[in-house]
Amino acid sequence: MIDVSVLSDSIKKWKGDALLVAMHEEDCPKCPVAPPYDEAVKVLVERKDFKGKKGSVVKVPLLEGNVKNLYLLGLGKAEESTPAALRDALTDALRKIGRERNESALILPGHKKSAPETDVILGEAIGLCGYSFEKYKKKEEEDGNGNGKKFVLKKIFIHEADTKKTALGQIFSDAQCFARDLANEPGNVVNPETLAQIAAGFAEEHGLTCEVWDEKKLELEKMGALLAVGRGSESQPRLIHLTYVPKGKAKKKVVFVGKGITFDSGGLDLKPSDFMKTMKGDKSGACNVLGILKGVAALKPKTEVHGVIAAAENMPGGRAFRPDDIIRARNGKTIEIDNTDAEGRLVLADALSFASELKPDAIIDMATLTGACAVALGSWAAGLFTMDEKLCEALLASAKQRGERLWRLPMDDEKIGETLKSKFADLVNGASRYGGAIFAAMFLNEFVEKGIPWAHLDIAGADFMKEDSGVYARGASAWGVRTCLDYLLTL
Ligand code: BES
Ligand code: MN
Ligand code: ZN
Repeated sequence: MIDVSVLSDSIKKWKGDALLVAMHEEDCPKCPVAPPYDEAVKVLVERKDFKGKKGSVVKVPLLEGNVKNLYLLGLGKAEESTPAALRDALTDALRKIGRERNESALILPGHKKSAPETDVILGEAIGLCGYSFEKYKKKEEEDGNGNGKKFVLKKIFIHEADTKKTALGQIFSDAQCFARDLANEPGNVVNPETLAQIAAGFAEEHGLTCEVWDEKKLELEKMGALLAVGRGSESQPRLIHLTYVPKGKAKKKVVFVGKGITFDSGGLDLKPSDFMKTMKGDKSGACNVLGILKGVAALKPKTEVHGVIAAAENMPGGRAFRPDDIIRARNGKTIEIDNTDAEGRLVLADALSFASELKPDAIIDMATLTGACAVALGSWAAGLFTMDEKLCEALLASAKQRGERLWRLPMDDEKIGETLKSKFADLVNGASRYGGAIFAAMFLNEFVEKGIPWAHLDIAGADFMKEDSGVYARGASAWGVRTCLDYLLTL
């Protein structure tokens, strides 16, 4: 974690590598920077080398004085700026600074009027700017000048900020980075068994309890859907249950459920190669759950928080489940398999029954569930499905606060609901491609006990990023971790 402290001395006396000045367009002529840096800024603005345009960054190497490089970051027009845009702009600028061999930076508060919550946002940006997944690379990447792109920023000073709030932002981001690290691991490293070991080690480290059910226990516990999906793999499925209990009486109990398909080949309904690539990311929901618990361990909310992960690898081995198979889920319902690639809803079926048995005040599941959701919403929003208006409102509000776009999709479609029925069993796991994300959500609904507020987040599409951009880094995004932590703090 980058070390953050408040600058008590004058700017003039600060010695370090980079000075970051964030400015709105209209502030440029007024030049909000104190001497001795105001001169350089004035010249740049006069020459129109810096206009404060949204997201623009100008680097000015300084040949003398206490600071090596001055960075100007444009925030656009104040009235048009949003908290999300500010967070992205700050993250991008800090990422650039960290990769340009600056080990320390001072951030000046030109961004103050962008949003009421700027200190938390700044903390989030500080927590996310250095993220990259490079543990398997021998050599660091280089920029156009042959310089290393390694991120070296270690110490940040801020001027007039509330470090309690920046620390909160850093906790949110740290939880998200932890989830990303895990989700970015390939399928040959993280399988259901190793995921369970990682979860157990993580729980011990953070004072949480962790119970793992192996295939024998899953059999005894009648988790027929999770077992069916995992059967075709050498690494057998696991149900992982983590618990955080607050000191004193808990105000509420919330269960987070994650889809933990450590690799989704499609099973016997094998995916074409273009679609199989990136399916190591099909455990993102599960990794998010671990990330949330990491945040919970640091924030210590008054709410009891459970994490339930259904971990399996969907492979076409000799023992694999087949199309036409009829399986029995934990809650007794039978399911006809139409397509072995619709495996996420099966593992979640048993996990949601288990979560319901905990009698919580709310259940939130996260899953890279359907390509249909990715097609509908693209890579920059996750689908929200819920019949509970209060939970819906709370999650949408938290998502807005944290800049993780959530978009509500319907799940009260009677006609789609009719297609859940199978001719040979209670339910069927797939249907027409039309309305695929809605069908999947309505299928899950069959396994949640009525009366428990429940929301399903389909994070397919938003879970994986091609390139670094704003708060996102190439690879897993851990979309939803900050939103869920924010939500917990509102309870
Ligand atoms: N894991 C996939 C969904 C997915 C697709 C996630 C793209 C991320 C990016 C899921 O298990 C799946 O294969 N769903 C099928 C369901 C279909 C067979 C009914 C799909 O969406 O095509
Ligand atoms: Mn699948
Ligand atoms: Zn899947």
